[in-house]
Amino acid sequence: MTPENLIALAKEAMAHAYVPYSGYRVGAALLCADGTVYQGCNIENAAYSPTNCAERTAFFKAVFDGHRDFAAIAVCGGKDGVITGPFPPCGVCRQVMMEFCGPDFAVYMADTGGRWIETTLKDLLPFGFSAGDMR
Ligand code: THU
Repeated sequence: MTPENLIALAKEAMAHAYVPYSGYRVGAALLCADGTVYQGCNIENAAYSPTNCAERTAFFKAVFDGHRDFAAIAVCGGKDGVITGPFPPCGVCRQVMMEFCGPDFAVYMADTGGRWIETTLKDLLPFGFSAGDMR
C-alpha cells in the first residue's frame, strides 16, 4: 500500500461524511500492520460535542474488528469536499493514535494537486501521555 493509494482511499471516504452543520468533509484511511485498510469519515451531531472525527471513526472500526497494530493513516478534508490544503488531525485524534500506535506511526496529510505532507505521531504529539505514564 503506497501513500498515494492510502490517500486515494481517504479522499473516497470524504463522500461518506455526515456534515450537516459544518459542511466540512473529512476522510481517513487507516493502514493496519497486516495490510487491512479501514476508512473513516466525520459524523456530526446537532449537540456538536458528540461529533466523531474521521480518524477516530477509522480507528474504532478497526479496533472493533480486533486490530491493534497500525502502520499509517492518510487524512484529508475540505469545505464541501474541496481540499484546499494539508489536513492536520485534531488533538483528540492524536491522543487516540497515542493509545494504539508507536512513535513512528506515519501520518499522511493530503494537500492539493496530489501532494501530501508526511509526518509521524511523535512529531504530531511530542511528550504525549500514554498508559506507560500511569505508574
Ligand atoms: N474533523 C475531523 O474529522 N478530524 C479532525 O482531525 C479535525 C476535525 C471534523 C470534525 C467536524 O465534523 C469538522 O471536521 C469540522 O471541525
